[in-house]
Amino acid sequence: MEQIEEENRPMELTRHQELLSWVAAQAALTRPDNIVWIDGSKAQLNALRAQAVSTGELLELNGDKQPGCWLHRTEVSDVARVEGRTFICCEREEDAGPTNHWMAPDEMRALLRPLYDGCMRGRTMYVIPYSMGVVDSPFARYGVELTDSLYVVLSMAIMTRFGRPVLDALGDTGEYVKCLHAKADIDPDRRYIAHFPQDNTIMSVNSDYGGNALLCKKCFSLRIASVQGRSQGWLAEHMLILGVENPRGEVRYLAAAFPSACGKTDLAMLTPPERYRAQGWKIWCVGDDIAWLRVGPDGRLWAMNPENGYLGVIPGVSPKTGPNILATVSRDTLFTNTAQNLDDDTAWWEGLSDTPPRHALDWKGSPWDGALSAEKGAQANARFCSPITNCPCLSPEYENPAGVPISAIVFGGRRAKVAPLVYQSRDWVHGVFAGSIMASETTAAATGKVGVVRRDPMAMLPFCGYNMADYWRHWLEMGALLGDNAPLVFHVNWFRTDGDGKLLWPGFGENLRVLEWMLRRCGGEAEAVESPVGLLPRTEDIDLEGSGVTRTALENLLSIDKALWRDDVADIRAFYARFGGRLPQELEQALHELEAGLNER
Ligand code: PEP
Ligand code: MN
Ligand code: NA
Repeated sequence: MEQIEEENRPMELTRHQELLSWVAAQAALTRPDNIVWIDGSKAQLNALRAQAVSTGELLELNGDKQPGCWLHRTEVSDVARVEGRTFICCEREEDAGPTNHWMAPDEMRALLRPLYDGCMRGRTMYVIPYSMGVVDSPFARYGVELTDSLYVVLSMAIMTRFGRPVLDALGDTGEYVKCLHAKADIDPDRRYIAHFPQDNTIMSVNSDYGGNALLCKKCFSLRIASVQGRSQGWLAEHMLILGVENPRGEVRYLAAAFPSACGKTDLAMLTPPERYRAQGWKIWCVGDDIAWLRVGPDGRLWAMNPENGYLGVIPGVSPKTGPNILATVSRDTLFTNTAQNLDDDTAWWEGLSDTPPRHALDWKGSPWDGALSAEKGAQANARFCSPITNCPCLSPEYENPAGVPISAIVFGGRRAKVAPLVYQSRDWVHGVFAGSIMASETTAAATGKVGVVRRDPMAMLPFCGYNMADYWRHWLEMGALLGDNAPLVFHVNWFRTDGDGKLLWPGFGENLRVLEWMLRRCGGEAEAVESPVGLLPRTEDIDLEGSGVTRTALENLLSIDKALWRDDVADIRAFYARFGGRLPQELEQALHELEAGLNER
């Protein structure tokens, strides 16, 4: 066997024998020309960035206008997560459940072996030790990703805490999730994102796009962590975390689950409407995508954000709707698949300005005139990757290892009809039901048709690492632990339309008007009225002053169309049926009660 050069002397970085032999075994399989351990030093990152520029993987943007910013273009066939090629490889198919793709672990390993065999020849393998959560804190979990992609290294350096401190925390025997990523030839027909929950292992091949390749994120912090959380008594959720400060200076925290590309980052970094700002309302962002939730020593539910950065959708982010996101991406940001304005070498996307650049390259790198071209300049799922500390409204609690106490859980989907602007669940079990029946129109965040309604329980359909019926059972058990301390649970829909297909609710900063009602409910200071689906605000309970929304529109937004809901009940019943006898009886019962309520006259 030919000698593989190792830079950085791993023995000076770690004496973790099992880690060293795992790295050696993966190198023997993939055959890189050399191996580089990522130690976390600025000098090493700078050198790697320079190298990525020299290979064309990164393009440095205008240092005056977008300082520290870079542009990366993916292959045209590699622009989103591929749910159809994402697998949970546990021993028994029923443990992955009907909503995951499953393959037996041995079969998947056998299938992957030839795809990895020698695939890093002529390339470098980078070893990235990383932490989800503050290094050395009680709830931190560690991973090591091996990759031949500099784009992955430089993105992970934004999204995680990484390098030498993680190896120190691992010590000689610490546990970590084994993550093997190879770009190989980026052939979509041989692309696999495979999870082995029993072995804490993730294997990804033939993609170099965000969620398929940055294995810290969806793969570890949701799919693998959800399995760990089930056995260890906590929850790994696809949720933003934000603090809302009222004019009395009281901060209450919410955790909210929405499907990809439905405005999670917008909500996490919300700018209050003028009137609210004047009164002293403030928003504090703790995280925009992933929450790990536990029952704290005080019996309440506490949430921490395991990430150290944001990987968000950039098209549509505009000075009007997303000033905090714009500030976040204004420096030290790695853009993927935006357009490039050639007049000043800046990243550009639909929404950034009303007049698109005329002299530009589109996301594919082809000449593009924003005034004449029928095509969009940025890919619909173009992304920004920015350090967490860039956010102007970052919560001072963002790296409190204990997290923040959660007063309310919010579920939401993108639905033109059916779901009202907001409703509250009657209790925790009814809240788990509300999460389990979430539905949403599909977006560009995953490959496939956009705009099709699908059920997406807790926004975890693509991210739950085990059988969703067992996952709901776990949620019910968490509720039993929490008892009277359980947060209130709400469901929202910012996307309801009128008869002409026009959005009825302005969304973005105006969503605070709905959060305000929720928080007053948490404080026992607001009214609600019963409906078959749950507790609704009265129209006078939502402050509309300055919103441009009329009382009539709000009545429409809060109305329950029983016929449409009955159709939904039928769809939910069919969805539930896929889980057979594993479906918790409590949810079956809640569905029955919903139906009975809709049939009352
Ligand atoms: C991603 O796919 O890269 C990602 C971050 O996930 P999401 O689709 O939830 O934004
Ligand atoms: Mn997400
Ligand atoms: Na995606």
